[in-house]
Amino acid sequence: MKIISSAADLAVAVSDARQQGKSVAFVPTMGALHDGHISLVDIAHQQADFVVVSIFVNPLQFGANEDFDKYPRTLQADAEKLSQFDVDVLFAPSVEDVYPNGNQITQHAGAVGETFEGAVRPGHFDGMLTVVARLFDLVKPDFSIFGNKDAQQLFLIRQMVTNSNHRWNAMQVIGAPIIREEDGLAMSSRNRYLSQEERELAQKISRALRAAEATDGHAAARIDAAQQVLATAPAVRLDYVVLVDPATFEPIEAGFVGRALLIIAARVGNTRLIDNLSITI
Ligand code: PAF
Repeated sequence: MKIISSAADLAVAVSDARQQGKSVAFVPTMGALHDGHISLVDIAHQQADFVVVSIFVNPLQFGANEDFDKYPRTLQADAEKLSQFDVDVLFAPSVEDVYPNGNQITQHAGAVGETFEGAVRPGHFDGMLTVVARLFDLVKPDFSIFGNKDAQQLFLIRQMVTNSNHRWNAMQVIGAPIIREEDGLAMSSRNRYLSQEERELAQKISRALRAAEATDGHAAARIDAAQQVLATAPAVRLDYVVLVDPATFEPIEAGFVGRALLIIAARVGNTRLIDNLSITI
């Protein structure tokens, strides 16, 4: 595995692979890798011959009071992990390589970017899309792989690619299934912030989703079932639990039938956790 930090060296590595007739899959990350990330690497290998993983903690997607400074940076351990999974290139650029013209927002997430996660984290999705667009420009992959856990992020990336007028040619965006701990907690780099007690409380989030899935009835009954589970642990502070239409990321309307996405966000201690489950209404 090559570890590359400059955009110029990345371009050379990808162009060499292309000259050998290889297809390219890309897994963007912010590091602190866990098995969820490795599942994205596995999918990248299934899709393409040459796999690039990036690790970049993007300052543009963190708000002033968020965890940018304390976000776990574990580059050496991450590199060791990735080298065991046949990754071809680990791209770990500096801020200057990613943003040579300064940290300017170039992408706007629009209305959906202001709801749910975007309502709580103003500007987050503009910053996230800006870095993803820049990374797509640098890597020029055939496939890019993102976790379904960040469902609103994935929706907005797909929307950006669709609206981009083929800026990234025929690149396919692939959503990967959520990988969970044994107790159901969705894997996340932020789980490492949880104390043992908080870690146990955090199970309630996926249990709430499962309760909604197991409940017959329309949206209100499903949401109620999820809320009842969370009510048993007031220390899990619910932010939202909403059924959205995966086609629009807007709350489903009365009479909706089909697969809806139940999205949830809650705080446990100082840690904000999100999760989701696709359920048939
Ligand atoms: O999901 C993440 O880890 C980040 O938001 C991403 C897509 C790597 C952009 O910084």
